[in-house]
Amino acid sequence: MTDRAAMQKIMKENGDLGWEAVWKLTDSPPWDNGQVQPLLRHYIENNKVDLPPAKEGVRVLIPGCGKGYDAVYFGSLGYETVGLDLSPEGIRLAEEWYSKQGLNGKTSFICDDFFTCDIGQYDVVYDYTFFCALNPNKRQEYKKRMAELVKPGGLLLSIVFPIEDRPIEGEGATGPPWCVSPEYYNGLIKEEFKWLLNEYPPIEVDNRNKKRFNIFKREF
Ligand SMILES: C[S@@+](CC[C@H](N)C(=O)[O-])C[C@H]1O[C@@H](n2cnc3c(N)ncnc32)[C@H](O)[C@@H]1O
Repeated sequence: MTDRAAMQKIMKENGDLGWEAVWKLTDSPPWDNGQVQPLLRHYIENNKVDLPPAKEGVRVLIPGCGKGYDAVYFGSLGYETVGLDLSPEGIRLAEEWYSKQGLNGKTSFICDDFFTCDIGQYDVVYDYTFFCALNPNKRQEYKKRMAELVKPGGLLLSIVFPIEDRPIEGEGATGPPWCVSPEYYNGLIKEEFKWLLNEYPPIEVDNRNKKRFNIFKREF
């Protein structure tokens, strides 16, 4: 399935089980990149993110990790990484993919709900296509959860996507993905996080115009 409208229809029909329904239908849904997000790799490999050293006890969380490419990537850098996803089938696919990579065992996957899980605090949280996957009526709760999950002094890396002029409520509202902008995202979390970077992708990537790489620090 590559069609966004078809995915939205399945999600609507299946309510709370929408993500699971999509993952059960296909292991390559429209958002799935099949690889580590190139923009994430670019920022990390070019030392554009001031990551903490990857020593014991330094933890990274990827909520809504899907098939877990980015979670496995952080694990390969030596971080104790948790990929979290609500969908049992998504987690099954992530574990299957991980087991084929022959890596170091630094990544683990947890099947649970971002809003209610009890999984401690993290030095780095990375969000790509998770915020936009959530119904906009969850945004206040997202802000509260992020402040609980990122340690004081920790980083929130977020590829803000999709930056589009589409309504998120009322007539004509469509999603997921639900639209967002860097200014909106910063406005939502600014009481807890300091905005360090908001950058147009410096490399060629899918949907380049609709993405911005953002870094926030939990300072307040
Ligand atoms: C659009 S997908 C993105 C997957 C992955 N980040 C990627 O880039 O391939 C959104 C993911 O968030 C998961 N998800 C949705 N709501 C969630 C929640 N409340 N807690 C944890 N995961 C959730 C879905 O199951 C789905 O795998």
